[in-house]
This record gives sequence, C-alpha cells and structure tokens, in this order.
Amino acid sequence: MAIQYAELPWWKTGPIYQIYPRSFLDTNSDGVGDLEGIRRKLDYLQDLGVRGIWLSPIYPSPLYDFGYDITNYHDIDPVFGSLETFKLLVREAEARGISLIMDMVLNHTSHLHPWFIESRSSRDNPKRDWYIWKDGRRGPFGKGYPNNWMAAFGGHAWTWDKPTEQYYLHLFTEEQPDLNWRNPEVQEAMLAEMQFWLDLGVKGFRLDVINYLVKDAQFRNNPYHFRMTYPRRHDLQHHQFDRNQPETYEIVHRIRSLMDRYAGASEDTMLVGEVYPDEGVHAPDLAATYIGIGKDLLHLAFDFSTIYTSLTAADLHSVLQTWYGVLLPGAWPCHVLSNHDQSRAASRLCAGADNEAKKRVLAALLLTQRGTPFLYYGEEIGMEDGVIARKDLQDPLGKKYYPFHPGRDRSRTPMQWTGDSAAGFTEGKPWLPINRDFRKRNVEAQQRDPSSLLHWYRDLITLRQEEPALLDGSIEFFETGLQENVLAYVRRKAGSEVQVVLNVSGQTRPNPIRRGGTVLLSTHRKPQGTIEHDTRLAPWECTVYK
Ligand code: GLC
Ligand code: CA
Repeated sequence: MAIQYAELPWWKTGPIYQIYPRSFLDTNSDGVGDLEGIRRKLDYLQDLGVRGIWLSPIYPSPLYDFGYDITNYHDIDPVFGSLETFKLLVREAEARGISLIMDMVLNHTSHLHPWFIESRSSRDNPKRDWYIWKDGRRGPFGKGYPNNWMAAFGGHAWTWDKPTEQYYLHLFTEEQPDLNWRNPEVQEAMLAEMQFWLDLGVKGFRLDVINYLVKDAQFRNNPYHFRMTYPRRHDLQHHQFDRNQPETYEIVHRIRSLMDRYAGASEDTMLVGEVYPDEGVHAPDLAATYIGIGKDLLHLAFDFSTIYTSLTAADLHSVLQTWYGVLLPGAWPCHVLSNHDQSRAASRLCAGADNEAKKRVLAALLLTQRGTPFLYYGEEIGMEDGVIARKDLQDPLGKKYYPFHPGRDRSRTPMQWTGDSAAGFTEGKPWLPINRDFRKRNVEAQQRDPSSLLHWYRDLITLRQEEPALLDGSIEFFETGLQENVLAYVRRKAGSEVQVVLNVSGQTRPNPIRRGGTVLLSTHRKPQGTIEHDTRLAPWECTVYK
C-alpha cells in the first residue's frame, strides 16, 4: 500500500529516534560511539521506518554533564568525528528520508566556554553581563547566597567566585553557568549558533530545558511546597521565579521566527522543547503553553507525564486524555516513554512477570496514538536499564550531586547490535558496561526472528504510515473497558476508521469493541479477511482492527 504521508511535514509522519551518540556504535575502537557509527546504521533506521533522528549533544564538551556542557556550539567534539563526517551524515540521512535535529542547550554553557572564561575574568569585562552575577546577600550570619534558588540536581544554584567576589547562577551543575537571556547580545549570539546548523541542512532542534531560559528580574525567593510526589523530589521548592518566566516565551518566539525562515513551503523545520516542570510533578498544561498555533512558538513539546505513570489502562487513559485535553485545537501532540535522563520504560513500566508482553503493549500504545512518537535507541529491541556499580558511574547526578540517585547511566548503556563480545558496539572497552542480557537481546537475533519485538515495532510503524486514520486521524477512547484494565480507542479520518484494543493485564478480559473487522495487526491473531467478532481478549493482547 502506498505511504500516505506526502502532504504532511516529515516530523508529523513517523517516529523520531533519539540517539545518544556515545552509545550507538563505535567505529574506531575507543569505546565511545561516533558519527561514523550512526552513518553506518542509517539503513537499519530507514528499515525501521524512522523519519527523524534527534542527536543528543555532539559538540566539544569537557563532559561535566556528558555533552550538556558545551564549549563550542559550532563544532563537533573530536571523539564523535568532524564537521565533514557530520555533513556526510546529514546528506546520507536525507537521501533515506530521515531528517536530523540537534540538541540545543541554550540555558547554560560549559564553565570552560570562552564566553564564560571572559565573563569571570573581571567585573568590567564586556562579557560579564552574558552570565548572571550577583553579590551575596547580607544576613544574620554574614554574607550568604543571593537568594534561595536550588539547582535541578540538588544544592544551591549559586557558586561563589573568589577572584571577582560575586556569585554566578547555575540551575544545573556549577560547571554549567546560566546565560543571561535578558542580554540582547546573548540572544543574537545563540541565534547565530542555531543558524550555523540550519545552514548545514539540519531540520530542527530539541531545545534543552527551554522553560528555564529567563529568570525573574528581581531574583525573588522561590516559595516552598511540601506536596508528596513520586519519584521523591530533590528539593521542596516550587520553581516560580527561576523557571517559566513570561519573557521566555518571547525568546521562543524569536527562535521560531528563525526556524520559519528556513522552513520552506512544506514546514520542514521543527522545534521540540523539553519543558521540565518541578521534579515529579505532572504538568501537561505547562508543556502545552509552549506550543504555538500558527507561527508563534514550538511545534512540539514533551509532556513527561508518561514518565511518572503506571502500566494500567486507567492511568494511561488519564494521562493521554489530559494531554490531548490541554492542547489547543490545532496543536500537534507528541509522546515519549524513555530518554537519556530517565529509567527506560522497559524497566520502569514493564518489570516483573510478563515483561516482554508488556513491552508490546507499550509499543502498540505509543505508535497508535495521535501525534509524533519519539523512540529512544534500543527501545525497539526492548533494552532495559543497565545495572551499574557505583564505582563505574559516570553521570554527575548520581556520582557527585545526589548520592541517593542511581544516576542516569543506566539508560545510556551501549546499543546491543549482536551477541558477540561487547554486543557489536565496539572492539575496544565500552565507556559504560554492556547490559548483561545482550547475548539474547540484540538487533541481529531479533531481525532473524519474525516474532520478535523489533518486528512488532516495524510492523506498527509501517501500519501507522499506511493508515491515514492512524497518521493524523482523531481519537476517541472507549471508557467501558477501563475497569477491566483494557484500553480501547478508535482513530478516524475521512470515513476510514481504525480500532485499537490493548489488554493491559495478564488475564483474559472481555473485548470492549463490539464490532469485528479486519485484523490489521495483532499479538494474538493472524491478519485475515473479516473475522467473527471475538468477545474475549487474551492476556496482554494488542489488536488493531479496521
Ligand atoms: C536536560 C537534559 C539533561 C541535562 C540537563 C542540563 O534536562 O536532558 O541530560 O543534564 O538538561 O543540560
Ligand atoms: Ca569511537
């Protein structure tokens, strides 16, 4: 069947695949993945049906936060390759219908970025005001922090700089000083950096913590709140004054205007924002405010509610309904189950009995919803969190800042390509240990096995691209099955209708869909002509009917 997506921009037509470049494929045996490795796997990604790649940062970085601390925004860190390899990668990806988006870290630079080195050199350096410097505040115990703001990884957000006797602000680690986005020169400089990549053929950006950019002009103290949340919060602050300031939306609008200049008639540039709320809090309404209708703000924003949900029909339904409900009419949703900061969904939501069956349910859910699905590398083969000894931790969050946090390395372990040593990822020593299950769980084995999870992903992606109702149809949930832990919905477009039923339980359940139809795809039924309607669903059954 013909692929239907011709009239939609690329980012609406298929999954966008997040690559954590250090962990994808190493081609020079230094144990770290590289751009050449990604280039060699483009056929694999094309075959999977991927339409875009989001690359986690590949700029020069001293790695205090594994690439999210950048010293040069218009170059490639030599560990990943060169600008030449990058250009080749863009060209060869485009030739396969895959667009590239870069991870853009606008809130802060590395403390070793030349801008910050200048800024901290003296109080009257022309770049002083590019960052956020403040005097200490006098209190009963002498001089203290300028205000009570806490950093996202814990600890105070201010660090004392002895030579110039002022504090600088960092909402993350002290090696990531925050830029002063109220300074027009900073805005110009960063827009120019983005333009650099657009000129190389990049089709958009994932904007790191976009909601943090501008800070309260008066630097007021954040209020506290003592709400219980899961997972437990690093701090008890409501980040009212260091995040989500109204002026941030003006900056996002400026970035969007730049994107639109490069978009062409087919709207082929895209911005997706990481809108990070207070730790552990669901905030789809906040994410929604960053999406512009028409030509104002972001094209897409991540709602991290799925990260804090549980695997039950009722919870999934409520998260999804809420997300669709808060989006303005015309806004395009997106969905994400895993990324480089969180425990993988395969471990977080699918642990315990029937764990492989649960992964199929999540895949079916992700790929039959409205909007753009994001996949995290290895999700398609069901990769799970790595078990990493504390002594091997690399992530500063677990190693240095927050000793009770397991660290984020567990979701950043090397891609499992084969059952050979080091999983076919490297011929050297991998920068993080390979997961123990790689001999059984790897791409090569799953490619050979038509009943594998990888095939299930590929079939779902293909179906999504062939059925207009799945690609950009409406959605309506059947509430009847929820109590039995069955999630069912219908997608509709121009007279065509697709029904999806997911048994989110390990028991046989009644089928809430009252009509039969053609089975397009199922974990338990063979696709065939019109079938008699079956009133029962097998445990963890996922079926898509037409
Ligand atoms: C975002 C990134 C995370 C990084 C942080 C600071 O949350 O996803 O990996 O540590 O921003 O840049
Ligand atoms: Ca390498």
